[in-house]
Amino acid sequence: MQTTDKRSDRFALVTGGGSGIGEAICHRLARDVTAVAVLDIDVDAARRVAEDIKHAGGNAIPVHGNVADRVSIEEAVNRVHAELGPVTVLVNNAAIEGFQLFEDIEEASWERVMEVNLKGPYIAVQAVLADMRGAAWGRIVNISSLAAQIGAFKMAHYSASKGGVTSLTRTLAIELGAQGITVNAIAPSFIDTPMARRAIAASDLPIPFEEILKSYPIPRFGRPEEVAAACAFFASDEASYITGQLLGVNGGAAF
Ligand SMILES: NC(=O)c1ccc[n+]([C@@H]2O[C@H](COP(=O)([O-])OP(=O)(O)OC[C@H]3O[C@@H](n4cnc5c(N)ncnc54)[C@H](O)[C@@H]3O)[C@@H](O)[C@H]2O)c1
Repeated sequence: MQTTDKRSDRFALVTGGGSGIGEAICHRLARDVTAVAVLDIDVDAARRVAEDIKHAGGNAIPVHGNVADRVSIEEAVNRVHAELGPVTVLVNNAAIEGFQLFEDIEEASWERVMEVNLKGPYIAVQAVLADMRGAAWGRIVNISSLAAQIGAFKMAHYSASKGGVTSLTRTLAIELGAQGITVNAIAPSFIDTPMARRAIAASDLPIPFEEILKSYPIPRFGRPEEVAAACAFFASDEASYITGQLLGVNGGAAF
């Protein structure tokens, strides 16, 4: 089911669109919006996803960009303007993970995680705000994490960055609501993506991963498409009176 009628003037930018959840979001949004800009630091991955969308009948362009770098993101947005149009749907999805006990986290590692995961959304929102204000309509969806809600072993920097994403969401919702721009966040639990597989392999969890999944009311890995469906709803016209919210896509892992 489409959540919006296709319009000729609705363009989405998805950061980290070249893999996992971002890839599923690009595919899902391509059904609703006019075109999707698949932004990734890995431009080959972005190209592959954009090609897949086009083969499936949608419209997408790959865009190289590093969310931690303002110049790179401003250049990327300029490309989207030239090839598509103003960005009125922004999904802040790009993130990196790290696995270390808190006392072992070096400053460089802390800063890198914060730069991508928290400064990235700050830069990207600033880069597209004029577009959304110009349209008097905008949708910002930030991908947070269950780690922000309940913590995550050996992921203090990651969980802190995602807590920041949730708080940023709430304040942006307050500042932008009167301008027709909604800002919401999604907190996924374990979703079957390359990042989750890396996390399971590297984090040396105190409880086996399978046991954690079995403890969820829905006792299985989540699918990227299940996060994408929630994102598409927040990005739709139907979600016009919903802002500042955090939605768990987590099999009931947290309420
Ligand atoms: N997979 C999970 O279990 C899970 C759980 C909770 C939250 N999340 C969140 O969901 C989002 C997507 O995660 P995923 O599992 O699909 O990860 P992933 O590693 O599979 O994909 C992340 C993508 O972001 C890109 N990227 C990384 N740094 C970038 C940068 N500086 N600029 C631009 N692009 C960059 C990568 O190249 C990659 O294509 C992230 O925000 C992650 O924190 C994932």
